[in-house]
Amino acid sequence: VRHLLGIKDITAEDIQLIFETADNFKDVLNRPIKKVPSLRDITIANVFFENSTRTRLSFELAEKRLSADVINFSSSGSSVKKGETLLDTVNNILAMKVDMIVMRHSSPGAPHFLSRHIDANIVNAGDGTHEHPTQALLDSFSIREKLGDVAGKKVVIIGDILHSRVALSNIFALQKLGAEVMVCGPVTLLPKYIKELGVKVELDVRKALEWCDVANVLRIQLERQQMKYFPSLREYTLYYGIDKKMLDSLDKQIVLMHPGPINRGVELSSDAADSHHSIILNQVENGVAIRMAVLYLLASKQ
Ligand code: CP
Repeated sequence: VRHLLGIKDITAEDIQLIFETADNFKDVLNRPIKKVPSLRDITIANVFFENSTRTRLSFELAEKRLSADVINFSSSGSSVKKGETLLDTVNNILAMKVDMIVMRHSSPGAPHFLSRHIDANIVNAGDGTHEHPTQALLDSFSIREKLGDVAGKKVVIIGDILHSRVALSNIFALQKLGAEVMVCGPVTLLPKYIKELGVKVELDVRKALEWCDVANVLRIQLERQQMKYFPSLREYTLYYGIDKKMLDSLDKQIVLMHPGPINRGVELSSDAADSHHSIILNQVENGVAIRMAVLYLLASKQ
């Protein structure tokens, strides 16, 4: 595999190899000297056409921990604003002897398009509503870390499934690793093809929480909604908002996850997000080790 474009394209064995490699890098990150020389001769460009905090910073940190040279491109403030195309932009970056491209773009399929036109390794850091493979990898890695294994676990993804690349990549990763997957949200925020993905569908959030071992809660992606969707944010919070009281009232302890950014008070109350149920900041921590593993394994295929 030369690129990581989506979880759909990789096998359960590929995912296990990424996890085992990330285990080693997690040990490194817990040492006083967190840097290894593995990518000393590699130059990586982080090319972001969309906003990001966690993904951009953790890729940059992962690259620096691996001793790669790093350049960061953000479309805002770039010559994209003067009309330069995606392909011209990336070809100009590659002309500076860059080896790998980490790209986030608002158009589904943008990294797949690039992979047919350029020679460098590409890592998809999120393409529109399509896939966000490293997020799904760090999510499943965090479940494995917390519960010992992903296989056999019941995982519900709650929220705006229709506009979420995190949901699709998580469904692929969890199913490949042997988890049972449910999605839960208002019917207007579920894709029409959802049942074809082999997931359970539940409209009642309380029933979904009672069923699951893990709840991965997503935000409502207002920036991707072309028209006014029902429900409004207030209605969403009323019917689907999760608070600590609700989690405490369940018969069993469940694991609460969120890929971030959280809209506090909408999909999650602050007391839930910051409670002992939550592994949200563990997910962020694991993002660095997972991205180190992905970059390291792709660089070894050059
Ligand atoms: N989870 C995630 O992709 O967050 P960012 O948009 O901040 O990178």
